[in-house]
Amino acid sequence: MLKVAQKTLILLCAVSLSFLAQAQTIVTIPIETEQNALVLQTDKDNRLGITYFGKKLAKSSENALISKEYRLNDSNAGIYNSAYTPSGTWSLVEPALQITHADGNTSLELKYVSHETKRTDANVSQTNIVLKDPVYGVEVTLCYKVYAKENTIEQWTLIKHQEKKNILLQKYASANLYFMADNYYLRHYHGGWGREMKPEETLLTAGIKTLDSKLGTRANLFQPPTFMISFDRPATENEGNVMLGTLAWSGNFKIDFEMDLYHNLRVLAGINPHASEYSLAANQEFKTPSFIYTFSSHGKGEASRNMHDWAKKYRILDGEGSRLTLLNNWEATYFDFDETKLTGLFKDAKKLGVDMFLLDDGWFANKYPRNGDVAGLGDWQENRKKLPNGIGYLVKEATKAGVKFGIWVEPEMVNPKSELYEKHKDWVIREPERPEHYFRNQLPLDLSNPEVQDFVFGVLDNLFTKNPELAFIKWDCNAVTYNAHSAYLQKQGLPQTHLYVEYVQGLYKVLERIRAKYPKVPMMLCSGGGGRVDYEALKYFTEFWLSDNTDPLERIFIQWEYSYFYPAVAHCNHITDWSKVGLKFRTDVAMMGKMGYDIVVSNLTDKELLFSQQALENYKRINPTIWKGDLYRLQSPWEKPFASLLYSNKDKSHAVMFTYLTTNRFDIIYNPTPIKLNGLDPNKKYSVKEINLFPGTSSSLKTDLVYSGDYLMNVGINPELSGNRTSIVLELTELK
Ligand code: GLA
Repeated sequence: MLKVAQKTLILLCAVSLSFLAQAQTIVTIPIETEQNALVLQTDKDNRLGITYFGKKLAKSSENALISKEYRLNDSNAGIYNSAYTPSGTWSLVEPALQITHADGNTSLELKYVSHETKRTDANVSQTNIVLKDPVYGVEVTLCYKVYAKENTIEQWTLIKHQEKKNILLQKYASANLYFMADNYYLRHYHGGWGREMKPEETLLTAGIKTLDSKLGTRANLFQPPTFMISFDRPATENEGNVMLGTLAWSGNFKIDFEMDLYHNLRVLAGINPHASEYSLAANQEFKTPSFIYTFSSHGKGEASRNMHDWAKKYRILDGEGSRLTLLNNWEATYFDFDETKLTGLFKDAKKLGVDMFLLDDGWFANKYPRNGDVAGLGDWQENRKKLPNGIGYLVKEATKAGVKFGIWVEPEMVNPKSELYEKHKDWVIREPERPEHYFRNQLPLDLSNPEVQDFVFGVLDNLFTKNPELAFIKWDCNAVTYNAHSAYLQKQGLPQTHLYVEYVQGLYKVLERIRAKYPKVPMMLCSGGGGRVDYEALKYFTEFWLSDNTDPLERIFIQWEYSYFYPAVAHCNHITDWSKVGLKFRTDVAMMGKMGYDIVVSNLTDKELLFSQQALENYKRINPTIWKGDLYRLQSPWEKPFASLLYSNKDKSHAVMFTYLTTNRFDIIYNPTPIKLNGLDPNKKYSVKEINLFPGTSSSLKTDLVYSGDYLMNVGINPELSGNRTSIVLELTELK
């Protein structure tokens, strides 16, 4: 007995001595991209802190010196900058990790143990830093994946333990960052259906500001997990220090901005701990979602181009590929269609000149036909009355008409008025003892349940198996999660607090299976507009629906803000009859992304049809520059009554400039001064030509304009906006 005790004591000493020994060496870990660095360093107690974030130092060896320049000298010194703040011991600020151990103890300490960097290729590397609690068997690994050229860091955390029973994770952030600047200006977003991405830019003050969502399925309806922070002073498009951050998670999130006593800023981003305590078994690894961030010392424009380059190359499915133009029938027919009407629309799609016809909601369910949004969701069999010959016939007819065929699904949801609900109430997220509460007359299915995952996978798999030529999927998600209760978790004896997390993990499992079997089919991520868009979902989707609001004036602002975080190739912009604004304006606005139509083609006048056909031809020519090139925002519509943007291809030999008037007030002097271009080569000569002219109109600009890039970027060009010229598209082509 005594021997065992002695042995234990010796062992314990060895453990604590090893921690002491490590405490004597200070370890500096720079996480460096091509331009920037995040510098981490251990302190005398072997705790890991952040000592620097910003433009990379020319001499990497000087990173070790940085911490000495800070004199954070009171008894709290050194604790605020923790690289991953534990809870229940020395730190009393907002924690990154809060747990209850198997024995009920709530304290946690994290000390540096080791780190290693592995290189994937010349551009990508990953640094893993292992931290351990000296008393309890809890291990945390901070993972930093660096995309050097894109100046982007993807950070996540792995949590595991060797305790005797489960531990409870009460808060488990993805990242915990620390910034030191004179001031911090946070640009964040709010909104609702049809009003996505309303920006607010605010000076952060003492205390904690939180961005969060507790909506579950349609998590981003009121705010997305995306933001920007300008350091010292508000960054502009081309000047200032600014970081862009976003959490790659399609569920509840929480991002805290806490100003500490030294006026330094702590940022904690991760899954929302609200109602999400997670019970973790020994040796099971919990992987948090990724927090993705980039920094630029040359303003918001460069920061967003960093993120675009990263997203196109490394994240969005087929991000460097091309996309299909389409005609969608949602606003043209709503639920009111049949085979004859649809086959007529295929011909319209062909006449217009798009690549594909997209059949929207309303094609399924028989016992409770989907003739409105009140019934049928969940019953994914073709409605025999509307489509007696099934989807297969439609695919064939579309092919005959010369267009591809795509289809809408909303496989995560169910209407209580459906056969699925009647058969499988146990698959539905609902409180068994409380009245149901609906959002758009529907409820989410419980994706924590593997049977439900099979069902959702099956909806897509059946469609593809029966119709291998199916060219496109629009995946919708129109309800938030009320009454978050899972019959499955209850049956398994698992805590209900796992539901929000396991729902999202279940969704990813389904998407993973779909992509394993159908790796290439383009899919649009939609959630009653922009209720769900993030960089984890976009691993599986080629594009997303920004908003149901397709009023072009509104869209200029919505697209403008989304464009900071997501590249044009992923933006689905449709021309619809939502507003009375002229077709040219609507078309020009839709072109700054992936263009589609949701109109009644037969209602177009001859001139409108001709205009659209020509616009689609132009689009074919210019879309490689829009999708694969770089975006330069020239004039913000928040600052002047017009917006101007330019896309240039990577070798700067071709560019497209869009300018839109954003006011219809009479008493306005349009743009009296030229707009300075950006993203061109000063030494190249460009021909400048107005395109997308409405038949019968001509440009007020000369037809043979030739300028140097130098002139265009220093003097600029005046596109001559006026009440009659409210949107102008200029194509710039290098003259050799
Ligand atoms: C959501 C989508 C729309 C349309 C409808 C169909 O609102 O955002 O584009 O697909 O669902 O019900």
